[in-house]
Amino acid sequence: STTLPYPREVIARLGDVNVNQPIYFNYPDNRSPCVLIRKGREVKGGVGPDRDVVAYSTQCTHMGCPVNYDKEAETFKCPCHYSIFDPDNAGQMVIGHATESLPRILLEYDEAEDTLFAVSVDGLIYGRQANII
Ligand code: FES
Repeated sequence: STTLPYPREVIARLGDVNVNQPIYFNYPDNRSPCVLIRKGREVKGGVGPDRDVVAYSTQCTHMGCPVNYDKEAETFKCPCHYSIFDPDNAGQMVIGHATESLPRILLEYDEAEDTLFAVSVDGLIYGRQANII
């Protein structure tokens, strides 16, 4: 079998990203919904000058339901069986039925272009045997 490379895709200009306002995108293909969040403070794995930008697959690792970002609690909540995931701690599950963290979308920040790119995935996207298919 062949391992395909991850695409490098523009997600947003950092200057256009407001703190705690989720930006939805697809990665590494258009059947994989994801979300980017700028936390406004340094968080684990955060990129950008303030190390505050993170991104995750929004497919719950339990059974694949789309998780929602709760702006007040600053957590991801799954409406199906109430798992909760922490964007400040690498997508780790806080409570619930899932056994895996939310897959992290690895980002790079290009300072010259003030642009955030998605470049890879850490963790297996729900329902897949490989992230690149
Ligand atoms: Fe998310 Fe079950 S699918 S908790």
